[in-house]
Amino acid sequence: MTSPSIYVTKPSLAPLEQYVTYLNTIWETGVMTHHGPMVQRLEKELSTYLKVKHVVCVSNGTCALQLAIRATDITGEVITTPFTFIATANIIAWERCRPVFVDIDPDTWNIDPEKIEEKITDETSAILPVHVFSAPCDVDLIQTIAAKHGLKVIYDAAHAIAVEVDRKSILQYGDISAMSFHATKLFNTAEGGACVTDNDFLAERIRRMRFFGFDERKDIVDAGMNAKMTEVSAGLGLANLKWLDRVRRNRREKYELYQNLLSEVQFITFQKYDAEEYNYSYMPILFDSEELLLRAMDRLIDGNIYTRRYFYPSLNTVPIFAPQDSLPVSERVARSILCLPLYDTLPNEDIERICEHIRQA
Ligand SMILES: Cc1ncc(COP(=O)(O)O)c(C=O)c1O
Repeated sequence: MTSPSIYVTKPSLAPLEQYVTYLNTIWETGVMTHHGPMVQRLEKELSTYLKVKHVVCVSNGTCALQLAIRATDITGEVITTPFTFIATANIIAWERCRPVFVDIDPDTWNIDPEKIEEKITDETSAILPVHVFSAPCDVDLIQTIAAKHGLKVIYDAAHAIAVEVDRKSILQYGDISAMSFHATKLFNTAEGGACVTDNDFLAERIRRMRFFGFDERKDIVDAGMNAKMTEVSAGLGLANLKWLDRVRRNRREKYELYQNLLSEVQFITFQKYDAEEYNYSYMPILFDSEELLLRAMDRLIDGNIYTRRYFYPSLNTVPIFAPQDSLPVSERVARSILCLPLYDTLPNEDIERICEHIRQA
């Protein structure tokens, strides 16, 4: 008998009846969008939960990055990491800027801040790092470099909900943090995202830009687009937010089970992170070689287990961003990394089965 399929992720969802209470409100009031009461409530609850000043909810994480770039008037070259999802670099290029990739740290897999300064030119206007898989970047050093060269800092915080450094939310660093609430994320609104900032002017500007450029009196004061979050998404967010701590705890237990079961395997390593500064949204493992990774992947597929090569390839090798320097650490990591299934309803027996396949590779 073949085993049932296991996929890399499944959305974390509140019990349906809890979401239905929010849907009832929509059916009663007929308000579905346009910064409705549930979006306003979600922004308030998120800013309390995350301990940040402004949360501006938008339609997805890519729009959050786009609005962050627009609101801060970034132009020219933007220094970023090659080890990330394509959306990070693509939206820089989409905004007619040039992504300039800097190699990553071999242990945290985040942009290596020691290598940023050598890539700064007269054209550079910003640094756009990613807290990859939720491990915090070296925010203090990045801030020092940005201040020295007069650069803006936008964090791609798509993975980084509920992460604190020194009891301060990681989202408070930089000019703006752009979050994703996509279905695959630890906290989801199906599609969704947010810009987080302490800066009143930037928050106001992003609020206008997500709504065609209208201000609160409906005067048109900025160029804008339509990046509003709907009430359908916000209601899901309100329901899911109540479960977020539980989801994170549960994923941590599963992550640690994987770590224990794979601790004896010589040919893999884990991301370097601080246990209290990590949200356990992904289960990435780094193989000693791509050959080993492909062998493990094949074995897992034979067992109906579907993993993902997050994030492959290293973006400095993608032709649309050429010319770029070769970046050996990122290229090696991107070739040899695999994300294993991780979600709150994943049974421990399945984790044992997955680890057995990897051991046999
Ligand atoms: C690092 C990173 N940046 C940006 C995005 C884009 O977010 P969204 O899918 O919500 O547009 C994602 C993921 O989906 C991501 O993983």
